[in-house]
Amino acid sequence: MVLPNVISPEAVLQARRDIYRGVGTAWTALSRKDGDPGAGDEVRTTGTAPSIAALFNDFGLRQLLEECLEAPVPEVQQGQIALLFPGNAVNQSNPKYGDSGMAQCGHPGDSIPWWGWSGHLDGQWAGGCVPPEKPDVPETDGRYSFESPMEQTFNKDGETHWYSDPSTNGGLLHFSPESNLANFTCLVGVALSDQTMEGVGNLGLLKGGWKVVNDVLNQQRAAGGTLGPEDYQGGLWPREDVKAPNGHGLRHMPDAVREAFKEDAVTTPDGQIWPRPTLMQLKAGDAVVVLHQTPQ
Ligand SMILES: [Fe+2]
Repeated sequence: MVLPNVISPEAVLQARRDIYRGVGTAWTALSRKDGDPGAGDEVRTTGTAPSIAALFNDFGLRQLLEECLEAPVPEVQQGQIALLFPGNAVNQSNPKYGDSGMAQCGHPGDSIPWWGWSGHLDGQWAGGCVPPEKPDVPETDGRYSFESPMEQTFNKDGETHWYSDPSTNGGLLHFSPESNLANFTCLVGVALSDQTMEGVGNLGLLKGGWKVVNDVLNQQRAAGGTLGPEDYQGGLWPREDVKAPNGHGLRHMPDAVREAFKEDAVTTPDGQIWPRPTLMQLKAGDAVVVLHQTPQ
C-alpha cells in the first residue's frame, strides 16, 4: 500500500540531516581507528534520532495501522536506516569483502540480478558473522563450527562464528519450539530521497509472494512442525543452501517462492532462480506499508 506525500518536506529534511550527521560521525570514528569506512554500526544508531521515529509517529501512519489492525499500535522509538552508498549498487552491508561481497544467500552480491535483490522475510536469524567465503578447509575454519550454537563464540582470530546466537541482526536460530520466525506485523517504509528510477536503493517487493509464503507456513503447521526455516518436515524450507557458492547460503524465503515466480525471473547457469521484484518508485515523503509475509 503506497501512501503518496504523507510526510512533510520539513520532516524529511530533518531526518536526512540527522542521517548525514550520523554518517559523518561514523566515518570520522572509523578512520581514526583505521577501520573500513563502510556503513558501520555507528551509522545505524542514527535510527534512534527523534526525527526518524517522528516519520512514523507524527504523520498518521500509526493511526492508519491501528485502523487496519483494529488494535492499539504504540509509538515507535526508532527506525532502520537503509542507505545505498555511491558506487555500491549492490548493497550487501558487508564492507569486509568490498562492494561485491558475499550476500546472505551465499552468492557474491554482484552476481545477483535485479540490483542484488535476493528476497527475504523479516524476523529471521541472519548468521553470526559476515557471510563466509568458501574456505579452503572448512573443518579448520572456526567460523563454520556448530559446537556452541546458542551463544556468541569466536574463532582464534576473534571472529564470531557463523552459527552463533544472536545473529548479526539480533535474530535467534530458534525463537520457540513453534517458530523460527520472530513475530512480525508489517514493514512501514518512508522514502527520504527521490527514488523514481530503479537502482537507487529502492525497496524491492515480490508482489503476491505472500500467498506462496502463507501456503508453505500452512503446510508446515499441518505437518505439526516448527514454522520458518530449518524445516523438520522434509524439504519445505531448509535453512541452509549448501549448493550456494559459499556452501552456507541462507534461504531467507522458501524455494517455492522462487519456483512460483520463475516465469518473470532470471535463472543463472547454476540453476538458481532470481524472481523479479517490483522496485518501488517513491518520491521523498511517500510512505509504503508492506504485509509481513511479502518477500522484500
Ligand atoms: Fe527486511
